[in-house]
Amino acid sequence: LIHPVLLCGGSGTRLWPLSRKSYPKQFAPLTGEKSLFQTSAQRLSGPGFALPVVVTGSDFRFIVTEQLLQVGITPGAILIEPSARNTAPAILAAALQVGGDALVLVAPSDHVIPDAARFREVVRAASGAAQAGQIVTFGIRPDRPETGYGWLELSAQPDADFSPVAQPLARFVEKPDLATAQAMLDGGRHLWNAGIFLFRADKLVEAFKAYQPEILAQVRAALDAAQEDLAFTRLDPAAWGGIEDISIDYAVMEKADNLSVVPYGGVWSDLGGWEAVWREGEGDATGVVTSGEALSIDCENTLLRSENDALQVVGIGLTDMVVVAMPDAVLVAHKDRAQDVKNAVSALKARQ
Ligand code: GDD
Ligand code: MG
Repeated sequence: LIHPVLLCGGSGTRLWPLSRKSYPKQFAPLTGEKSLFQTSAQRLSGPGFALPVVVTGSDFRFIVTEQLLQVGITPGAILIEPSARNTAPAILAAALQVGGDALVLVAPSDHVIPDAARFREVVRAASGAAQAGQIVTFGIRPDRPETGYGWLELSAQPDADFSPVAQPLARFVEKPDLATAQAMLDGGRHLWNAGIFLFRADKLVEAFKAYQPEILAQVRAALDAAQEDLAFTRLDPAAWGGIEDISIDYAVMEKADNLSVVPYGGVWSDLGGWEAVWREGEGDATGVVTSGEALSIDCENTLLRSENDALQVVGIGLTDMVVVAMPDAVLVAHKDRAQDVKNAVSALKARQ
């Protein structure tokens, strides 16, 4: 049995103004009728999977419950973080909660993986290596020098079909600079880290013991003193408050020596920004992706979204633009600069 852990905590500022602190991107229906969170939960349900553990903030506990109910999934547990401390503490808390030598599959709730059946098959193929004590990462074939991802250095090339065969990972490089990313892309010996991890709960705890003993002690304390509140397990704020804000990639993956990688050959995308939403959207012949009350006249490679029925958005003669209109905010950006939306969010916050 594989225990899915759904991470649901980032505020997704690169998708402002759709994604807000109070309503992060994973709960919004970005590319279809269901939210990314709902499709992620469904992808990891069914035969072979235990009920999911969700790790999230207090603000989102009712959205999580409601959205799971809508797709007929009962949560195994919902862990509430008193504050966001990034993925390392969140994943460790879930691993401790599941406990023992159970297999844990950690997945972000903001990814697009259309072929759920293939994904589940690859996860099953990875479970042998995880059972044997490896922390298994999933590798995606890179097609650009992405600096927002982790990169996985292979010890051997995957076959042409990208068969899901585990191999030891030579090195894990989190969020390289552009020159390093370009060199890794050109070298052809690296895959992208999908941000999905499969491991035995006890093996992850061991890794924290070796590389992050302080975080281990603090997260244990927060879980030991947790309060049960309705269906929620509230981690203890006093213990949680002092925990370092650090991602699992820096805290453990760049350090551990028992990492493996299983290639994933299906479509995968982290909808980390508007450029990705445009890329994953159903575009017309000139690459224009519209949604809501949006009209394109002679635009090219452009995203036009209206998030309000009463708000008409019209683009004329635009190239490589992102336009997102909310009732209370409008974003107009060059597609190549869409990642900088997070700077706008900080700037707006500073003005308040
Ligand atoms: N519960 C909880 N608490 N979840 C969190 C927190 C937190 O404090 N911080 C982030 N998350 C969730 C996010 O909502 C997201 O679903 C997931 O954890 C990953 O966090 P991101 O902030 O989106 O990470 P990233 O995209 O920059 O990098 C990670 O994913 C990449 C692939 O998408 C890394 O693992 C990279 O190596 C990887 O390439
Ligand atoms: Mg991400």
